[in-house]
Amino acid sequence: MAEDLTIITGTKAEQYESLIPQIKGLLQGETDLIANLANITGALKEQFNWLWVGFYLVKKDELVLGPFQGPVACTRIKKGRGVCGSSWEKEETLIVPDVNMFPGHIACNSTSKSEIVVPVIRNYVVVGVLDVDSSETDQFDATDQRYLEEIVNLIPF
Ligand code: SME
Repeated sequence: MAEDLTIITGTKAEQYESLIPQIKGLLQGETDLIANLANITGALKEQFNWLWVGFYLVKKDELVLGPFQGPVACTRIKKGRGVCGSSWEKEETLIVPDVNMFPGHIACNSTSKSEIVVPVIRNYVVVGVLDVDSSETDQFDATDQRYLEEIVNLIPF
């Protein structure tokens, strides 16, 4: 597959429906985890132009920054800390419409206003999280949750 994305306008669902087959194409035949995570962040950033899209990977007792697109970010997050560490601890997707209302939110970037964090779960264990930040409040909903969960399930961890 050529490494060119087709970017479309349309509803959020239409954008994900266009993107997911392309992500499958990018992942096809590639087994390197970092390469795959990197291309997923690139594809999501290109289509949606969010402030920050990236992965944190579970290493021992903390999350460590992985491939991302966007401003520089904090490198290590303890379990239960911030939105990412809470998603890891609860083993569920967290949608935060206004990060200022989330106790313990870790402000890696002061312009982040809303956030969704999707855990990557393999064999019932969280191995990482996908974190997406927007510079506007209330940008994420059940549609993002559904499609982002589908996308993280495509990753051959
Ligand atoms: N806001 C996150 C930290 C990661 S940065 O947003 C990239 C959190 O509260 O866990």
